[in-house]
Amino acid sequence: MREILETLTDHLRRIAAEGGEFAPIDDASMDILRRMASECSRKSSPKSPEGGGEIFDDNIDEVKFATLDDVYSAKKEREPIKRIKIVNNRTMDIKPIPAPSKFELPDGDKLQKWNALRDIVLSDAICAEHVRPTKKIVFGIGNLDADIFFCGEAPGADEEIQGEPFVGKAGQLLTKIIAAMGLSRNDVYIGNIMNWRPETPKGNRPPDEIEMAYCLPYLKAQIEIVKPRVVVALGLTAANGLLGFDPARRMGKIRGQWQKFGDTDLMVTYHPSFLLQYASSQMKRLVWEDMLAVMERVGLPISQKQRNYFLPK
Ligand code: URA
Repeated sequence: MREILETLTDHLRRIAAEGGEFAPIDDASMDILRRMASECSRKSSPKSPEGGGEIFDDNIDEVKFATLDDVYSAKKEREPIKRIKIVNNRTMDIKPIPAPSKFELPDGDKLQKWNALRDIVLSDAICAEHVRPTKKIVFGIGNLDADIFFCGEAPGADEEIQGEPFVGKAGQLLTKIIAAMGLSRNDVYIGNIMNWRPETPKGNRPPDEIEMAYCLPYLKAQIEIVKPRVVVALGLTAANGLLGFDPARRMGKIRGQWQKFGDTDLMVTYHPSFLLQYASSQMKRLVWEDMLAVMERVGLPISQKQRNYFLPK
């Protein structure tokens, strides 16, 4: 049962990391949780953090309405992320991550610089150490003259197979969002804070600050090469990577507000994978409003039909 609760907590933590504030839950699941919670609090009395007592206590309705930020912070404070790599179903620890590597790009045009940077990243020993055998380091892709640079968090399972950002389900949704803006993936640039997939034995996890600090210079160099007019940070982890980690930052507050990344305008919006799991049409509309703002900022034409997407009928 502990395992189920931990999986659930990790799941909630993931939602919170992506900016979610509430987890939708149906009555049947609520009943199961209630039963598990009273089991758990019997076993872990007096309440111990390991028993999950303070989150899943008898008053389980509080979970339904507690903010996920609380769940996220509670979990995060007591359990530093352990960096591991899973090879042949075995979990292996990974050496501490050093300071970011120093690198220089050659003089030349954008393509020459981008190719050189790509070679540097794909042959980076630390990135390689974090990637499982047969999987790939993931570098950004797209139009080097793009006005819009989408920045995600980290590659997932599909991305580390193909070596390309946003090619899985979240990527398909991002591609649809880009199409709704009247563009294609070839018109924009798509990158990630991370060049490898941070994982736990249970699946993806958000990268920690040290991992982000290691990969960030590579992302910044891509932004410097492309020189987009707008960077779109997809999700709270991307926002924290680009704006500097701030545990108090909340998606609900920051999205839709123009920020700066150096001299470049930055818009933070919800991550497509969050939308895939929790999207109400209100949430879709919020993301769409962020995209309308981006379109206006880069001077893209906007039809009345586009303006009305996801408005209540
Ligand atoms: N999520 C991300 O943040 N990046 C990807 O490349 C895929 C999913």
